[in-house]
Amino acid sequence: MPMLDVKKIREDFPLLSREVYGKPLVYLDNAATSQKPQCVVQAIADGYTHLNANVHRGVHRISQEATEAYEEARRQVQHFLHAASEREIIFTRGTTESINLVAHSFGKAFLHDGDEIILSEMEHHANIVPWQLLQSYTDLKLHVIPIDDRGVLDMEAYRAAFNEKTRLVSLTHVSNVLGTVNPIREIIDIAHRHEVPVLLDGAQGVLHCAVDVQALDVDFYVFSAHKLYGPTGLGVLYGKERWLEAMPPYQGGGEMIGHVTFAKTTFNELPFKFEAGTPNYIGAIAFAKALAYVSDLGLENIAAHEQDLLQYTTRLLTEQVEGLRIFGNAPEKGAILSFLVRDIHPYDMGMLLDKLGFALRSGHHCAQPLMDRFNITGTLRASFALYNTREECEAFVAAVKRVAQMF
Ligand code: ALA
Repeated sequence: MPMLDVKKIREDFPLLSREVYGKPLVYLDNAATSQKPQCVVQAIADGYTHLNANVHRGVHRISQEATEAYEEARRQVQHFLHAASEREIIFTRGTTESINLVAHSFGKAFLHDGDEIILSEMEHHANIVPWQLLQSYTDLKLHVIPIDDRGVLDMEAYRAAFNEKTRLVSLTHVSNVLGTVNPIREIIDIAHRHEVPVLLDGAQGVLHCAVDVQALDVDFYVFSAHKLYGPTGLGVLYGKERWLEAMPPYQGGGEMIGHVTFAKTTFNELPFKFEAGTPNYIGAIAFAKALAYVSDLGLENIAAHEQDLLQYTTRLLTEQVEGLRIFGNAPEKGAILSFLVRDIHPYDMGMLLDKLGFALRSGHHCAQPLMDRFNITGTLRASFALYNTREECEAFVAAVKRVAQMF
């Protein structure tokens, strides 16, 4: 198996060598946000130092250079996703805004009283609340597909969920709590047999495997840059051109217009129709560096390394920690490990682990309905990235053991 040179990689991430409370930092909160390689940090500094002028607006030289770099970043995202056209790549503020955009815009164009949307019990709030907001305008039914105790989607229930009122399937690719990798090909095939489009929340999925939106035939795929080693405040909405063409603008102003009078406004073409206001062009330019960085290392190598860490840590925790409960035991998992020890509150344990230098997330992970499903209020969650090591995992397991013994 080709492995990553993790020692060398870690040198690209200066933050990893800092200490907390005089202890070396072990950063295991990558599902919340990943650290940034120096090339990304440098691209942000270089952008503001040498290239800062508003895009698509100036005839002057710097504006043209910034515009070209921004549009090149869009083409890189297009290639990364294997999208048919750069017109299908919309830059947003993040996964959450991408889903809100689809909810409002697709909702206006295609959803009517009595229509149904299919979600699942494992969704992040970002793929629940935007649909509920729509319910204040349209009498929509949210059809929620259950999961089993391992955290696997009930595909029989999914198959049976479709009827003549079903208008959209909106599911996560990889659960941010359970790590479950959903069978997205099958999910899309079944939906398309019913002529229902599919949105996938790829916030945790986009790094799990190479995503080819054309091969998948997915209608919408959304993710954030900051979990993919890029800057915060930037996300992507991939949408098939025929859907985006048929959808009205989400916000008004800036570059999304064709011509404005007080009587009537016409709208710009794709993708600009959906990019109102000054976009985060420096962020997009820096994100292109992050994409190049992960592509150079190889997505398969990254995924294999993260799987090794996930399995290694799962085994050590299971062997060494009494009273361990792991949430998420699907046969195929992303590098996310949620757990509880006995009845110790995840915040108490998280705070003590923090004092020992371990950064991980404790709480409901913005997935309260999923917590309800398991009858818990929260979990501890360790999530692994390309720069984590087996030594860190060993130290982490020892720390969990030590902290658990304090209660
Ligand atoms: N959605 C992110 C997480 O799961 C923030 O932590």
